[in-house]
Amino acid sequence: MTLKRTLGVCYYPEHWPETQWHEDAARMAALGLTWVRIGEFAWGRMEPQPGRMDWAWLDRAIDVLGNAGLKVVLGTPTATPPRWMLAKHPDMLPVGRDGQTRGFGSRRHYCFSHEGYRRESASIVTLMAERYGKHPHVAAWQTDNEYACHDTTLSYSQPALKAFRNWLAQKYQSTAALNRAWGNVFWSMDYDSFDDIGLPNLTVTEANPSHVMDFRRFSSDQVISYNRIQTDIIRKYSAAPIAHNYMGRVTDFDHFGTGADLDIAAWDSYPLGFLSDRLEVTPDHKRRFARQGDPDLQAFHHDLYRAVGKGRWWIMEQQPGPVNWAPYNPDPLPGMARLWAWEAFAHGAETVCYFRWRQAPFAQEQMHAGLLRSDSVAAPAHDECAQVARELAQMPDAGTAAAPVALVFDYASAWAWETQPQGRDFDYFRLAFAFYKGLRRLGLNVDIIAPDTADLSQYKLVLAPGVATLSQQLLTALETYQGHALLGPRTNAKTGDFATPVPLAPNLPGLDARVMRVGSLPPDLPVPLAQGGNFLHWREKLEGSATVVETTEDGFPAVVANGAINYLAGWPDDEALDRILLSACENIGIETDILPQGLRRRDTPTHRFWFNYNPVDMEWGTTTIPAAGVHWEPL
Ligand code: GLA
Ligand code: GLA
Repeated sequence: MTLKRTLGVCYYPEHWPETQWHEDAARMAALGLTWVRIGEFAWGRMEPQPGRMDWAWLDRAIDVLGNAGLKVVLGTPTATPPRWMLAKHPDMLPVGRDGQTRGFGSRRHYCFSHEGYRRESASIVTLMAERYGKHPHVAAWQTDNEYACHDTTLSYSQPALKAFRNWLAQKYQSTAALNRAWGNVFWSMDYDSFDDIGLPNLTVTEANPSHVMDFRRFSSDQVISYNRIQTDIIRKYSAAPIAHNYMGRVTDFDHFGTGADLDIAAWDSYPLGFLSDRLEVTPDHKRRFARQGDPDLQAFHHDLYRAVGKGRWWIMEQQPGPVNWAPYNPDPLPGMARLWAWEAFAHGAETVCYFRWRQAPFAQEQMHAGLLRSDSVAAPAHDECAQVARELAQMPDAGTAAAPVALVFDYASAWAWETQPQGRDFDYFRLAFAFYKGLRRLGLNVDIIAPDTADLSQYKLVLAPGVATLSQQLLTALETYQGHALLGPRTNAKTGDFATPVPLAPNLPGLDARVMRVGSLPPDLPVPLAQGGNFLHWREKLEGSATVVETTEDGFPAVVANGAINYLAGWPDDEALDRILLSACENIGIETDILPQGLRRRDTPTHRFWFNYNPVDMEWGTTTIPAAGVHWEPL
């Protein structure tokens, strides 16, 4: 399949007078857009009263857009059930960890476990799929919108409790087995009946971590099965590909799980919002990149969602200007709306859709920019988008180059270290992202891979920091692996039941090393390494006969190895990580370049791309890459 790189935009026909649609559609087409995503919040206009459908406006909107030459991505509207739904299903609202029911008046006001809401979702999706499944202008689907957004994966509701008990009964078959797996003998927590088991909130002190982990797995499974209700229905009526739009740094459910039922993984990229509201960075870094975004965060998600989408992925929403929801919402530097799109394409994206066409003059997001201002005049990103469209005409083919390095990413490990962090700074995403950034500083193409990957042979270097429980597939692959695997810290530290393994971790093939002691480190208490740099946040003391490659200044192994298997006994700072990664690359024959701050690169099958996230021009070799600029050359 040859795929073309394309652009699109998110549009809400129901927000605008119908008289405006034609002009909007014509302007989108003139701008060079291929796709327009609509529908995902419009349930109230599709079904204004229970069972009274109004499809006429949507028929006309799809026709207007399609007749202008655009392809429609049709979103199912289940993220925003109308108010009347609550009268039918008063107990469908999600319940927070504090036991408070969350209310109507924004969005995502449903609990994934509510059977009635699952049926209502199935019926609106069925009606849409029947009506539009073979429509010539509907060329893709989106299920729901941003699962997990606004902290909605976990719901401590009565429907969730009932479904959780069933899930546990299926998994364990007997309470004796559950008691053994959870270690309920501790604190007299044994259960005689599945009906006695509660949700792991509102306990006096922390709940049993095995209980919490099962609730996390259950909650993730609920999202997966809810999404599957929609994909199964759509597939019955339509051959168009199905996507979901995931989010940045959201790990509350297993995206690989939902990904298995989708054709395309999409994600919503808001670089300035994310730098402002969800990254642990220094004030200097925040200031330097405030109008560009973190130089590695978008790339990380591009690589992650390429894996989740099994190769096919999009940006469904691209930040076009200031957003409304972060603590601070600066204006992107001129050039960034173009740079972000090209960076996605360089990582293999098929499509980048900007969010949204015209800035809404009303309601929650009136401070969120669009490609057009509220008065329909072009906003700055409009012209940058036009430039990308012109450039795409010269370089239309989407594709992904091979990467020498793989980083394992495992959602369950995020839940594990939230459940029992043992040190307030031990965050799984932060750890995995720190390693990813280290690889990017060396100019490497990286593949992110799923935790049940069975074949590592295409990679020279494989990293799996903090993967709480290694899958049987990965363990088997590591037994015969010929490259350089860097595991740890805290890798394979728990059993599948969330217990401490005996023999002690990490139990890696051929490596005689045991973690005999761990310590979490306050920010001002790093552990210096003999060759420079430090362990931060976390250190482990090892015993065993494995070859010691590096030590701490206080005389303990910092890196041990046997053959392809290397284990790292702490969380390295950038200096230590750069040295360890560089020596791994030298050892295994991967070419590297040490890139300056904010300058990043990515190879496609045909070109080498450079992205300058700095607010100043950068020199590389004989080339000057302008501030907030992109540069490419044929390979
Ligand atoms: C929503 C949320 C924001 C942010 C964005 C980006 O708008 O309110 O916090 O997560 O999505 O995905
Ligand atoms: C998310 C949502 C959109 C919108 C944007 C605002 O990505 O999916 O509906 O709220 O955030 O940034």
